Amino acid sequence: PASPKAGKEPGTPHPKGKKRRSQLWFDNPENPGMTALYLERYVNFGITLEELTSGKPIIGIAQTGSDLSPCNRHHIDLAKRVRDGIVAAGGIALEFPVHPIQETGKRPGAALDRNLAYLGLVELLYGYPLDGVVLTTGCDKTTPACIMAAATVNLPAIVLSGGPMLNGWWKGERAGSGTAVWQARQELAAERIDYKEFIDLVGSSAPSIGHCNTMGTASTMNALAEALGMSLPGCAAIPAPYRDRGQISYRTGLRIVEMVEEDLKPSDILTREAFENAIVANSAIGGSTNAPIHINAIARHIGVQVSIEDWEKVGYNVPLLVNMQPTGKYLGEEYYRAGGLPAVMNELLKAKRIHGKALTVNGKTMAENLKGAEIHDEDVIRRYKKPLKENAGFKILKGNLFDNAVMKISGISEEFRQRYLLNPKDPMAFEGKAVVFEGPEDYHHRIDDPKLKIDEHTMLFIRGTGPIGYPGAAEVVNMQPPAALIKRGILSLPCIGDGRQSGTSGSPSILNASPEAAAGGGLALVKTGDRIRIDLNKGEANILISAGELAQRRADLQKRGGFPIPASQTPWQEIQREMVEQLGDGMVLKPAVKYQRVAQR
Ligand code: FES
Ligand code: MG
Repeated sequence: PASPKAGKEPGTPHPKGKKRRSQLWFDNPENPGMTALYLERYVNFGITLEELTSGKPIIGIAQTGSDLSPCNRHHIDLAKRVRDGIVAAGGIALEFPVHPIQETGKRPGAALDRNLAYLGLVELLYGYPLDGVVLTTGCDKTTPACIMAAATVNLPAIVLSGGPMLNGWWKGERAGSGTAVWQARQELAAERIDYKEFIDLVGSSAPSIGHCNTMGTASTMNALAEALGMSLPGCAAIPAPYRDRGQISYRTGLRIVEMVEEDLKPSDILTREAFENAIVANSAIGGSTNAPIHINAIARHIGVQVSIEDWEKVGYNVPLLVNMQPTGKYLGEEYYRAGGLPAVMNELLKAKRIHGKALTVNGKTMAENLKGAEIHDEDVIRRYKKPLKENAGFKILKGNLFDNAVMKISGISEEFRQRYLLNPKDPMAFEGKAVVFEGPEDYHHRIDDPKLKIDEHTMLFIRGTGPIGYPGAAEVVNMQPPAALIKRGILSLPCIGDGRQSGTSGSPSILNASPEAAAGGGLALVKTGDRIRIDLNKGEANILISAGELAQRRADLQKRGGFPIPASQTPWQEIQREMVEQLGDGMVLKPAVKYQRVAQR
């Protein structure tokens, strides 16, 4: 299949006489001064002049692993296999660091750094002698940061995910990343375990190298990189320590050299069809609510139209096929053994839910890659006709609270569904009384205060937690009910907020509300005690007050100087706050979007 934008067949050799990008640095007699300076320093660690001037493609290995980023750290070893592949295919490998992003290590939140790593990588890919790049991905934001940068620069690029950790176990039960923390917090709140057991339980979910072993944001984003066609088929699900992981690293290295020869670029792969495939795949795997933010950001940077509403239009009525925590039972090892993403995609292809003609990094179409991708365990990966749940995609809500917010219906527990959604008089709609928290600190401080009178008819609100209010947007919308309610068996309340939610949490939340309170969204106007109505059929979320009352509240807020925004703690927080867009639009840096395909300029 021809790659439409490249205008030639994959497999076409590099045109004779046309200089490679890297030769502008290393083989440019028109500018001997600069060429000599470029050459003299890149030979100083042992590469020979012959290699640098041979016209071999120079391939970057964008290294996201380091001691600061444990989820991606094994990429330091995998890069050796990537390098072997690059050399075997006739290329030269240059490895370089990407700004690390460790989800569980960075204060005040790792999401703040996604756009920083993106900016840094754009500069590296644009400014150095590279003909193509291997993007090492893993922990949540490393995957979108790398693909966003490759999209902006539009050099041949291939994703190598690092793979999930092995399954965690605690007292004979599976302990999944993140999900174990939510469960353990409930156990601790109900005083069924003590602090020492709590730490032990959570620690048991991380038994090896790799990223989160649940279908959290990391497994989601790596699966979607594959669904977009940006990694070799089958790459995402391979557990980090398996030998297959080293082997696919080698094959990724081989393939990127061919991609450079074929001039197969992100713009050939990241088409509207590819994005629709990713949205459908996300529903079927039970993917994270962070996916729309990151996928929409990639679309913005490659210049393909994808809106937040597309997530419901394209993805809502897709069934949930993957039985993996937090929504289901299993973890990464069973998912890989059952066939991983190719088995899921093949099931979706047979049901005519994805575009088989979308081109992928190996030069073949999605449909060609999926031939023979079978389900090996029908409890872990379900048949399309026997799903875990119907309508597993996101609902996009709007109303006087926000222009758009996301709700992951498949994450809702049966208990919640019975209590809220199956009311025969008013199915799929519910009302409740708002209790409003001003950010996570306020929530932790007051949630158990009996004066708030939180009961099963309460909706918990949190605001000031969006990209501007809490730089990068905090993962805090999934708020646990007060301990008194948990003891009575009420494990979740509806939560609404302008922040995000961990992909490993199963809360029935309405999140990513855009615009956020700090950007003038309706969330800034809600008051504790307000009556709120959520209607999932109509896709609406409203404070039940008159338009006049709402306008009055807005005028009062303006008189008080607007929604309070806390001071920035670092230069980057301030810089990003001034130019970041809202979660529904991908939380991208506004001035960055107009820079597209910069390597071709
Ligand atoms: Fe890094 Fe989950 S914390 S992948
Ligand atoms: Mg997360």
